[in-house]
Amino acid sequence: MKYIKIYLLAALLVVSCKTKQPTVKAVEPAVVQEAIDTREIQGGMWIPSLLEGVNEEEMQLLGSKMTAKDIYDVNNSSLKDAIVHFNGGCTSEIISPKGLLLTNHHCGYGAIQSHSTVEDDYLKDGFWAKSLEDELANPSMTVTFIKRIDDVTTQVFVGVTEDMDEASKQRLIDQNIQKVTASAQKEEWQSANVKSFYKGNQYILFITEIFKDVRLVGAPPSSIGKFGADTDNWMWPRHTGDFSMFRIYADANNRPAAYSKDNVPYQPKHYLPVSLDGVEEGDFTLVFGFPGRTNEYLPAVAVDQIVNVLNPAKIEVRDNALKIIDSYMRKDADIKIKYASKFASTANYWKKWIGENQGIEKSNAIENKKELEVEFSKIVKEKDLVGYQTLLSDFETLYKEIQDVSLARDYWIEVAYRNVELLGITFRAYQLEQAYLRGGEAAFEKSRTSILNRLKGTYKNYSAVVDQPVFEKLMVLYAEKSPKEFFPTKLQGLNFSDEAASIYTSSKLTSLAGAEELLSGSADEVIKKLNEDKAYIFGKELHNVFYNSVEPKFQQLNLEIEAVQKKYMKALMEVFPNERFFPDANSTLRVTYGQVSGYEPKDGMYYETTTHLQGVIEKYVPGDYEFDVPQKLLSLYETKDYGAYADKNGKMPVCFIGTNHTTGGNSGSPAIDAHGNLIGLNFDRVWEGTMSDMNYDPEICRNIMVDIRYVLFIVDKYAGAQNLIEEMTLVHPKKENSKQ
Ligand code: ARG
Ligand code: ASP
Repeated sequence: MKYIKIYLLAALLVVSCKTKQPTVKAVEPAVVQEAIDTREIQGGMWIPSLLEGVNEEEMQLLGSKMTAKDIYDVNNSSLKDAIVHFNGGCTSEIISPKGLLLTNHHCGYGAIQSHSTVEDDYLKDGFWAKSLEDELANPSMTVTFIKRIDDVTTQVFVGVTEDMDEASKQRLIDQNIQKVTASAQKEEWQSANVKSFYKGNQYILFITEIFKDVRLVGAPPSSIGKFGADTDNWMWPRHTGDFSMFRIYADANNRPAAYSKDNVPYQPKHYLPVSLDGVEEGDFTLVFGFPGRTNEYLPAVAVDQIVNVLNPAKIEVRDNALKIIDSYMRKDADIKIKYASKFASTANYWKKWIGENQGIEKSNAIENKKELEVEFSKIVKEKDLVGYQTLLSDFETLYKEIQDVSLARDYWIEVAYRNVELLGITFRAYQLEQAYLRGGEAAFEKSRTSILNRLKGTYKNYSAVVDQPVFEKLMVLYAEKSPKEFFPTKLQGLNFSDEAASIYTSSKLTSLAGAEELLSGSADEVIKKLNEDKAYIFGKELHNVFYNSVEPKFQQLNLEIEAVQKKYMKALMEVFPNERFFPDANSTLRVTYGQVSGYEPKDGMYYETTTHLQGVIEKYVPGDYEFDVPQKLLSLYETKDYGAYADKNGKMPVCFIGTNHTTGGNSGSPAIDAHGNLIGLNFDRVWEGTMSDMNYDPEICRNIMVDIRYVLFIVDKYAGAQNLIEEMTLVHPKKENSKQ
C-alpha cells in the first residue's frame, strides 16, 4: 500500500504542473485532477484469482465498491461466472437468467454471414429472433467458461535446476505440465489446461467448461453494427453499434451438450444486471475478458526494431496492395463484394501498425525503455546480481543477428504468403510437394484433399485481374527492400512486369478449374505438372529460401531470445520490487480496470469521453458503403424516441472511452461499473493508443466501448425486440446509491 501512496504523490507533483485544460469543453477541474492522480495505478491485465490485496485496493481507489471475491470466487457465484471466451477469439457476457449472450457484431460476423442469403441478408438488414424457436444454431461455435484458476508453478518446476540447459529444462517442464493436467481435479465434462505467465516464470491451471450449442438471437444491420467500417476503424470519435446477441443452450442437467432441439436455455450461476444510469468522466470501469497477446517487457532494442524496421516494411507492402485493390473495388461491384472482407482484415492491422508507430514515438517509449535499462544495469552492478549482468548485451547481440532474418520473414509472409494471392496458392502447392517428399503417396492424398477444399474458398473471392498488378508492385518492393542474402538469386534482376505478364497468362493456378486440372492425376504426374507451371516455378524459389534458410534460423534465434526474455522478466521484478508488473496477455481470462476518461491526442486538441446519435447523423452519407444510416434510425432520431435510454440531457449516447488496458480478444468484453453492473461493450481502441500492446500509457491509451444504453435502444426501439429487454435485469445503481 505504501508504494501506491508514493506513486500518487509523485504523479501529482509531476503531472499537475504540466496539465493542460481541455480546449473543447471545460471538465470539472476536480474530476480531471482525480483522473490524473490515479493514472499510475491504471493499465495491466490481471489474473482474476489473484486480485486480493494490491489490485483490490487499486480498484477501490479508482472508485470500485467491489471486493476481489465479488469478481472471482470458486465457492460462490461471482462476476467471472458471467464471462465466456467466445469461439476462441472474442469475449462475451451473459445478460439474462436464460443464458442470453452479448458480444460484438464483428465477433458474430461469420455466424451472421453464414445464415445470410441474397433474399434474407442478415448482414445487410439485421436479424431478430422473436422467440426461442426462431434462434439459429451454429454448428461449430463454442463458448468457454472458466470454472477454476490454480497457480501450479511449484508442480511445473519440480526437478528443474539452474544448471540444466534450456532444452532439457523445457522438456521437463512439458512433462510436468502433462502430469498436472492429467491429475487435475475436475468433473468429467470439464477440461484442464496449463498456461505460462511472466514469460515462463509462472504457470497456471485453468479448469474450463465448453458449451457447443450456441444460437444466434439478434444482430443489427451492418449500417449500425459496422457503421463507419474501415474509415472509422481504430478511431475516435466513433459511432458504431458493434453488438450482436447469442444464447447458450444446455442439456436437461444444465451441462454442455452438442446441438439438440431438446436442449434448453442455459441457467447461469451469474448474469450481469444492466445499468440505465450511464457513465461520466472519472467513473470506475472494469473490463473482464480474454486479451490475446501483448509484449510489454521487450527491451528497447526490440521495440526499436519493430517500429523502425519491421512495421515500416509491412506498412509499405500493405499500403501498395490496398491502393491497387481499392482502385478495382471502386470500379467493379463484383470485385467490391469479393474483396470486402479480405480488404477489411488487411486494412485492420495496416492501420493499427501506423497508429502503433506514431504512439511509440509520441510517448517516447524507446527512450523511456533505455532509461529504465540504464537504471536496471546500475542496480544489477551495485548489487552484483549474478546471472543478470549480460542480459541486455545478449539482447543487443541477438536482436542484431535476428534483424535481417525477421525482415526477410515478414517480406515472405506479407508478399509471398498473404498479399499476392497467386503466390499464396503456389505455397499450398509447395506444401503438397513437401508432403509427398516426406510422407509419400498417403501424405500426398491427404494433403491434396485438404488443399483442394481450401482452394475452393480462395478462388470464390479471387480475381487474377486484381492480383496481377499487386504481384508486379509487391515483387518490386520485395526484391529491392528485403535483405539480399535471403532473396533467391534466380529472381534477382528480373523485370517483374514481364514476369507477371507471362505468369498470369500461362499459369493454370489463376482459376479453380485450372488448379483442379493441375492437381489431378497420380502424385508423380501432379509434381511434374506443377514444376512446369510458371507461377509454381516462381513461387517455389521464394518458398524454398523461406523454408530452408529463413525459418530455421528464425526459430533458433527466437528460442534464444525467449530464454533471455524469461530471465529478464524475472530480473526486472527483482530489481524493481515496487513496480507494477502484470503478465502479458496470453488469451486467458483477465481483469483490467480504469476510468472513463477523455484524452489529448495532439497539442491543443481534447477528445471528450462520449459520442451521441447526433454524430451518426453528422457522418451520414446516403447510400454510402460505410456511412449509410437505416431509415428507421433516422426517424427515431427525428422524433427523439429514445424511451428510458437517453442521457440526462435527453441525448442518445452511442460510444464512450476509458483507460482500460485491452487488446485483440477483448472485443465483446463487458465494461462493468463500480457495483458490478453492465455499462458498455468493448470493441476497439483509439488510434494513437494502439501501441498499448508494447507500451501502455494511461495518458493516450483508450479503449472504445458501445454505451449499453445504445444497445438497449437499438434492441427495443429499432428492432422492437422487447422480448429480449424483458429477460434482462435493468437497474439504476446511481439513483439507488444517492438515496442511501
Ligand atoms: N479494430 C477492431 C479490432 O481489431 C475492430 C475490427 C473490426 N473490423 C473492421 N475491419 N472494421 O478487432
Ligand atoms: N478490435 C479488437 C478485437 O477484436 C480489440 C482491440 O484490439 O482493441 O478484439
